[in-house]
Amino acid sequence: MKDLFSQFKILLSFWNILKSKDFPWENQIVRDLEKKLSDYLEIPHVLGVASGTDALILALKACDVKPGDEVIVPAISFVSTAGAVAWIGAKPVFIDIESASFNIDPQKVESAVTPKTKAIIAVHLNGRMADMEAIRQLADSKALMVVEDAAHAFGSKYKGGSIGYYGDLACLSFNPTKVFGGCGDGGAIITKNAELARKISLFRTYGSPRYQEFGINHPIIGTASHLSPFQAAILDTKLRSVQRVTEKTRQNYFLYSELLKRVGDLVLPSNPSEYFINGYRFPILSKKRDELRLLLKKQGFDARIQYNVPLPYFEAFQYLGHKKGDFPNAEKLANEVLCLPTNYRLAEEEVKEVIRIIKKCFAPAN
Ligand SMILES: Cc1ncc(COP(=O)(O)O)c(C=O)c1O
Repeated sequence: MKDLFSQFKILLSFWNILKSKDFPWENQIVRDLEKKLSDYLEIPHVLGVASGTDALILALKACDVKPGDEVIVPAISFVSTAGAVAWIGAKPVFIDIESASFNIDPQKVESAVTPKTKAIIAVHLNGRMADMEAIRQLADSKALMVVEDAAHAFGSKYKGGSIGYYGDLACLSFNPTKVFGGCGDGGAIITKNAELARKISLFRTYGSPRYQEFGINHPIIGTASHLSPFQAAILDTKLRSVQRVTEKTRQNYFLYSELLKRVGDLVLPSNPSEYFINGYRFPILSKKRDELRLLLKKQGFDARIQYNVPLPYFEAFQYLGHKKGDFPNAEKLANEVLCLPTNYRLAEEEVKEVIRIIKKCFAPAN
């Protein structure tokens, strides 16, 4: 957003928002953004909400998940994936991740299904989509709903389908750390299903379809979860450059992929051709990850451990009774992962410097 035209456009939008008396969900800027996102992702319904966490909660509600129901979730993710399930009184049923993709293991989903299972949440960790075909097939055979936690995966694809193509609903976060992030909280729910979209539009506006009916008749109970028009104005401007940003992020990702092959004990992410990875993070596994992280930090590079504790071991999920050893792949990831920076602002030389630092760490001492 450095160019003058973008800054001017945002200021103009802010001025129009300040003048308007619209509610957020009726605001033209929000509606325009929803339409543009729907065109970009080629999924008919996009509904802006207050955050990625709210998107998950409302998506589960739209799937009719109720207290006492079970929802299958991967053992590694940001807390909101399982937190959303618990927040509405349902039970998160954790399963281990695949060792190659770090995503939910479709082979393990089947044995976790019980008569109480209502839905599966597939997280597209680090921008690589989960094996959505396998998950969809399994969900269909068991009459389950599929929610995609696509917070990391704006712009990613699997077998040509974007987020929201295989799942019943996909949830986006627009928080500032994301590939397509704004300047605060924000999120969206994406769906091909008009009925689910209708439900969510009620849920996010106090359970009533029209402002004229507010206070007179609310057919269901809803909440207030709106994408702020200010966020929408910023995101609208960013959408114009998101393809360029993604391309640069991917270049950084693939530079690591190419130049870190066979270095030390590093395990690199695999990149099967049916996946279009947006490059959000480049996760490596190494027994030396803490040392690597420190070395990179000293040189000003922000390599992060994401995530360093599997969700089932959080204090908040102790009531589920899991113990160390239950999720070996998630534990290995938590103990060894380091996400290298891929941000589009990093120049090729900087990425090469990160690579040099890592190689030096593994070089035999003279
Ligand atoms: C995988 C994942 N899901 C959900 C969320 C929640 O998004 P938000 O911060 O917009 O509530 C995040 C945020 O970082 C995330 O990484």
